[in-house]
Order: sequence, then C-alpha cells, then structure tokens
Amino acid sequence: MRVAAERDASRYEADGYGVGGDEQGNGRVNIILLGPPGAGKGTQSERLVAERGMVQLSTGDMLRAAVKAGTPVGLQAKAVMEAGELVSDAIVSALIGERMDAGTGTGAIFDGYPRTAAQADALDLLLAERGQTLDYVIELDVNEDALVERIVGRFTCANCGAGYHDTFKTPREEGVCDVCGSTEFKRRPDDNEQIVRTRMAEYRAKTAPIIPIYEARGLVRRVDGMADIAVVTASIETILNEG
Ligand code: AP5
Ligand code: MG
Ligand code: ZN
Repeated sequence: MRVAAERDASRYEADGYGVGGDEQGNGRVNIILLGPPGAGKGTQSERLVAERGMVQLSTGDMLRAAVKAGTPVGLQAKAVMEAGELVSDAIVSALIGERMDAGTGTGAIFDGYPRTAAQADALDLLLAERGQTLDYVIELDVNEDALVERIVGRFTCANCGAGYHDTFKTPREEGVCDVCGSTEFKRRPDDNEQIVRTRMAEYRAKTAPIIPIYEARGLVRRVDGMADIAVVTASIETILNEG
C-alpha cells in the first residue's frame, strides 16, 4: 500500500516544459475541469497530461495519497472523504499551493478544485502570487443518473494510477495495466452508490454555485461530458487551441 501512495504522490513531481510553455509562463494555459463526481475530470486530465504536457492538480488524488501515507492531513481527511463530504478549504488550498510551486509544465489542470466559493477566492490569490492567470473553466455537462454507473464501475492501476472502467474503459489485456503492465488494481472506498449520492449533493450545494462567478468573468466553456471519452477530449482540445 505504501508503495502505491508514494507513486501517487510522485505523479505531482514531474515538471516538463513542453510545447507552448516556458519557465516565465509564456504560452501557459491554466484550466479548471469542473463537474460532479464521475463527470470525467480525472479521465480527461490524464489525456491532457499525456498529449499536452500539462500537469494535473487533483486535490482528491493528493488527499488519497496523504491518507495512504498517514500524514497529519491524511488523518484529518480520511473520515470526511469516506463520508463523501468536503475536506476543509484551508487544507486543500495549501495542498494546491505546494503543488503549484513544484511546477506546472505547460499549464495546470485543476481537477476537483476549487469546490467552494472560498476555494475559488484562494485560487485567485495563489495564481496572482505566482504571476499567473486562469484561462478557462471547462464544465463537463453530464446527466447525474448515468454517473452512478460510471463510478461504481471505476477502478485504477495500483501502481501507476491509470484509470479504467468495467464497461467503458477496460484494459487492452484483461487484468494487465495498459500503461505499466501491473496486474494490481484498486477501487476507491467512497465509490459506492450511497456515498456517491452524498458527493453529488455536496457538488450541487457548494460547487455548482461557483460557476456563475466564472461565467461573469467570461471563462466558462461547456462540453458535453456524456459523449465518448475521445470526443470529450477533442472538444477540450478545441477550446485550448482557441487562444
Ligand atoms: P475527487 O477525487 O475529486 O472525486 P470526485 O469529484 O467525486 O470526482 P471523481 O474522481 O469521482 O470523478 P471524475 O470526474 O474524476 O471521473 P473519472 O474521470 O474518474 O474527490 C474525492 C473526495 O476528496 C471528495 O468527496 C472530498 O471528500 C475530497 N476532496 C477532493 N477535493 C476537494 C476539495 N477541493 N475540497 C474539499 N474536499 C475535497 O471518471 C469516472 C469513471 O467514468 C471512470 O471509470 C471513467 O473511465 C469513466 N468515464 C469517464 N468519462 C467517460 C465518458 N465520457 N464516457 C464513459 N465513461 C467515462
Ligand atoms: Mg477524479
Ligand atoms: Zn499502471
């Protein structure tokens, strides 16, 4: 278990400056992927990381790594996450700040952050302090009823974190990770129907209300999150190539 936690954490250490970005932040594109549990934030992040050299900053992944490693943050977050509720704004914003300082390649993908109005304010400050801006808020437009099926069928590689689904995205060879060849997989403790309903209620109550803040700033772009995974990626690519 410990090895998996360290590898999860190491995903945040990479810092390549690829096409379109440099150390001064020129050509950088910073985006928020916004959507309820199971909308495809992690799935799409994985593809943007591979194809564009962007860096995924997923507070959910960071918190899960902290829980596994048994850090003070992890000890505080564990029960809250298992109940499907939100971890404190101060904790997640501190995690995001640390990861931003570790470098964000050709741009940051904020996945699952911000989730409250206070976190949206904190992100503005974190970006401003680093002389960066937010370019797009990409909202994955989805049908909540279909998301439960997505979530209960989800599993990931225990070694490299690659994401799969029992029906929608199976490994090419059964039981073997496409990316690293590992044969160990895991499922999240909060991925059962009852907890998913709580997570969705939290999204509706606390996260959806931040969308108008970004709409007022002209940053929101809506993408049909119910389309095939590759079609969703293509729609996001079109937006990123706009500017
Ligand atoms: P987090 O890890 O962020 O979970 P979440 O928001 O509930 O979102 P998920 O990771 O479940 O969904 P996703 O959109 O990434 O979907 P995925 O791509 O995997 O947060 C977990 C917990 O941590 C929270 O409940 C909270 O306690 C805490 N937390 C995290 N951030 C916090 C914050 N900022 N503040 C406070 N607390 C915080 O896709 C799902 C499945 O569907 C996959 O199997 C995938 O293969 C499949 N799939 C994806 N796209 C498609 C498609 N287009 N068609 C068919 N299948 C698809
Ligand atoms: Mg996710
Ligand atoms: Zn793997």
